[in-house]
Order: sequence, then structure tokens, then C-alpha cells
Amino acid sequence: MSQPSFRTPKGTHDLLPEDQQYMTYIKKAVRHRARQAGYKRIETPIFESKDIFERGIGAHTDIVEKELFMVSSKQKAEDPEYALRPEFTAGICRSFVEHGMQQLPLPVELYAIGPCFRHDRPQKGRYRQFNQFDFEVIGLRDASIDAQLIHVLSKILSDLRILDRLTLQLNNIGTAENRSEYIAALKDYFIGKERNLPDIDRSRLESNPLRLLDSKEEDTQILLKSAPTLSQFLDEDSIAFHETLKEYLDVLEINYVENPGLVRGLDYYTQTVFEYWDNETGAQNAVGGGGRYDPLIELLGGNPTPGIGFACGMERIVWQMKQAGVQAPNKDQIDVFVAQLGPDAKKMCLQLISQLRDLGVHTLGALGEASLKSQMRLADKFGARYTLLLGQMEVKEGTIILRDMVAGKQKQIKIEQAVPLIIKHLGAENLDTYTLKDHMADGVDED
Ligand code: HAM
Repeated sequence: MSQPSFRTPKGTHDLLPEDQQYMTYIKKAVRHRARQAGYKRIETPIFESKDIFERGIGAHTDIVEKELFMVSSKQKAEDPEYALRPEFTAGICRSFVEHGMQQLPLPVELYAIGPCFRHDRPQKGRYRQFNQFDFEVIGLRDASIDAQLIHVLSKILSDLRILDRLTLQLNNIGTAENRSEYIAALKDYFIGKERNLPDIDRSRLESNPLRLLDSKEEDTQILLKSAPTLSQFLDEDSIAFHETLKEYLDVLEINYVENPGLVRGLDYYTQTVFEYWDNETGAQNAVGGGGRYDPLIELLGGNPTPGIGFACGMERIVWQMKQAGVQAPNKDQIDVFVAQLGPDAKKMCLQLISQLRDLGVHTLGALGEASLKSQMRLADKFGARYTLLLGQMEVKEGTIILRDMVAGKQKQIKIEQAVPLIIKHLGAENLDTYTLKDHMADGVDED
């Protein structure tokens, strides 16, 4: 076979049908747990004004400084610069302000599912286009909100049967004042020691010193052992908030480990931060994370309104599910293949196919002009459970052949019996039917 000349761009991937099974399964768990806890779905544009990300996430974060995908549609000098969203939170908070959602009963609980973009160096578990599901609770500052949000996340991970592979890392990074005092102390501590820092951390010491705390560089970690810690700078209110959160997590039976080095890579955080890490690989490729962002809404032009949220990387969750041997149900099976020979048979088959599909039977057939034998081979390749065969003879006799592809047995039946027999064999509970009601049934697979 010749090599295809076009390929997916670096750091992106096609989500092929076999991956969609996992994605659909994850979305289903997300929607289910979201509705149970009163979250409503929101969709924001895939691109937003770059300023929103600069202000929200922070101009000196890796995500904004190095990883934004710019959308080059600027035609006039006054046109805003747009960037593909690297995450949902800033866009959702922009939407909260823009639509005056502070008038709604608070807290407003929103969730979103969709692609995000970061122009990072691609590696295992790190893509330039990836999918997140994201939950936000805006409008109230109370540790019970933090606990309940983490509870929803842990329920989703448990539904997907990967919770026991992960550990919740928890920290409180205090207020902006606490952090600026701490940063001053950290910079003091590093005076004279800068030479021993790797290049990347020497520049972080200038631009975003807190990032030193979760640095993966060994030299930095060694130096940090005798550095002041952020927890020494927390005010009483932050300490009390954190203690209360831990009590609530205990009430909800959520396991966690305290991680004083967890600061997260986005500037909007304050107080609670958390991540779910793989028990074995730790900080690398966290499955999800989030935290409180009380100053963000005001930064984006709204009235001061606290908020908290988290997001999970869906590709990383799929990876965890596969590692754990979790099978996503395959709903794309073919139940019936209808094979036919001759123009009259083909017309009858079209009707039969339409009837079967309406009743919720996954049906293929009436394809092309091949011999019955090669249509049978095709039915086998499609993995059809049953085949219905209608040749010229059967049309004349008003019969049809029903073949059980697994048992390898077939029988001739009256054509009117074909549909009821197929339904009986498949079982009414296995039919793929749906009804659009005012109250949509949960079985419906939304996007
Ligand atoms: P984040 O930690 O930057 O937080 O991303 C959340 C999750 O998205 C990560 O834990 C990871 O699973 C996934 N992820 C991030 N980057 C990539 C990538 N390049 N390739 C694959 N997966 C990736 C946020 O995005 C915050 N907005 C979370 C939040 C919501 N905080 C408050 N509300």
C-alpha cells in the first residue's frame, strides 16, 4: 500500500469509531453525574479573544505564554486577536459575566465537554488537541461546595472504574496576599543560589516563582527541601477553610493525600487546589485537576464572585480505562444483514431494511449486485448476527431464508415471519429504539 500523503497535524489524532465507544461511555457518566448534582450544560466558542486567556489564566503561565494557538483572522488593526481555547474555565466565566448569570439563583453550576488546544511539545498523554470535560460552580465560597465538586469528580472516576488507580492530591494555596509574601520569601531564599537552578527554573523564579514548587527538576527539588514553604504563609481563614474541607471530604468518604507542593499551572487559583494522579506515575499526566478561582470573575469584568471547578482530560481517562481492562460497551454491532438477488428482491429488501431499522434493529444490506455467496461473506465480515436471504425463487414463493451466523444454521420461513422472528431472537430489550419526548430519556446519546 502506498503511504498516504496527508496525515493528522502533529499532536492531534483521529478519534476512530473504536475510540468513540469510550468517549460516549465517558460522556454518559459525565452527563448522568452532572444532572444528579444540578449542573447544566454550556457550550462556549472554541476560540475566544486572546485577552480572556491572558487575563484569566495569566500572561506568564506556560499555557498562555507558550501554548496558545492563535487564530489568524485579523483583518483590520482594531480586530481582536483570537486564540483557540486551551481550557474552558476562562470562557465559561466570560459567559457568566456576559449573560448576567449573577442574577440567577447562586451557585450557578455548569459543565462542558469538548476539544481544547495547547501548542505544547507532543508526547505520551500530551496532545495539541485533546478533549476535556469541565465542571464549574460559580457564586458561593463555602468548603461544602469544594467537597461536593470533588465528590462529583470522584463518582465519575468510580463509575468509569478507574478511581482505585488514582490518588487525590490536595492543597490550599491561600490568598493572593499570602502568596505574594511567600514569593518574596522564596526569592530571598534563592538569592545566591540561582546558579544552581536549571535554566527553566531560573527563568520561572523571575516570571512565576510558584511553579518552582512542582518543578520536575531534581536540582530544584533538592534546593526546595530547605526553602520556606507556602503553608507557613497561609492566613488563619485559609487554614480554617482547608480544615473544614478535609472534614467534609471525610464525611463523603473521599480519600486524599495532602500535597504542599501542588500549585497548578494557572494563575487564577486561590485556596483549594487538587489533582487526580496515577498511583504509579504521579504528577506526570494527571487525569484531572482544578481548584478555587475566587478572583477570576472580577478579573473578567464581573462583580466579585467566587468560583471553583475542575477539568479532566478524556484521552487520559480512556488510557486509564484501557489499562484497567475496562471495556466500553460497543453499540455499533450489526444485528442483521439482508442479502438479495434480482431487482424484485432488492425492492422488497429495501422495505424490510426500513422496517427493521424503525424497530431498532441495526440493519445493513441491499448493497450492490454481488452473488448471494459473496454477500454472505460480506455479512460475515460485518459481523452480522443474522442474515436474511432473498433470492428470485424466494420472492416468487413469498419466503425468505433466515441464517443464524453464529450457529451456522439456516431455515426457510414465510416472509411475514422475518421481522417478528428477528425481534424475538434479538430480544426486545436489545433493540435500539428511541423516542423524542419532552423529558428526554437518559438512554438517548446526545453529542
Ligand atoms: P488543567 O490541569 O490545565 O486544568 O487541565 C485539566 C486536565 O486536562 C489535565 O489534568 C489533563 O488530564 C488534561 N490535559 C491538559 N493538557 C492536556 C494535553 N496537552 N493533552 C491531553 N490532556 C491534557 C484546566 O484546564 C482547568 N481549566 C481546570 C479547572 C476548571 N479549574 C477550575 N475549573
